[in-house]
Amino acid sequence: MKKPVAILISGNGSNMECLIKSMDETHPGYPFLVISNNKDAPGLEKAKKLNVPVKYIPNKDFEAKCIDHFRKNKPAVICLAGFMKVLSSEFIKNFDGKIINIHPSLLPKYPGLKTHERVISAKEKLSGCTVHIVNEKIDQGPILGQKKVKVELSDTVKSLQKKILSQEHRLYPEVLKSFLSTKNQFTDV
Ligand code: GAR
Repeated sequence: MKKPVAILISGNGSNMECLIKSMDETHPGYPFLVISNNKDAPGLEKAKKLNVPVKYIPNKDFEAKCIDHFRKNKPAVICLAGFMKVLSSEFIKNFDGKIINIHPSLLPKYPGLKTHERVISAKEKLSGCTVHIVNEKIDQGPILGQKKVKVELSDTVKSLQKKILSQEHRLYPEVLKSFLSTKNQFTDV
């Protein structure tokens, strides 16, 4: 039985698109719902074009409505893909160990926002991206996978962001597949 995968987005949805496209016939999961807290998120149109059901839920009642949607169809995993709202610890506890997130730095370094700016100001030689399990501490949950990117002296925020995003597009599908394939406490629903 294929496992239902929910994806939460706030913006462009390029990671979401890669996740959806990775879920082919042989994949252990299928994208059952994409939810955005931003009605203008370009990712919503992208998901519709890929025939995945979408919902827009405003921030005000986001978590309660999300839980309603997930009550009928329990997700095996909830992928945060450029989802920019901080989730409450009650919500996280509800789906303990089943929410995963992609972050554009080599965690535990540079949690939070403006990672590329901070990496460049600190003259780091390496940066990258991380997929981790979401817990109550922002960007500090157990790490599931990382990819590294060299930071060149000539890099700008834009060029670094572009290099890292292309590694995110490889990393997130790899981690999702192994997360769903591994028979562990997180994937048994
Ligand atoms: C990605 O770089 C992702 O790592 C980052 O937002 C971008 C979303 O791009 N997420 C965060 O910063 C979360 N704190 P996308 O919408 O094209 O996938």
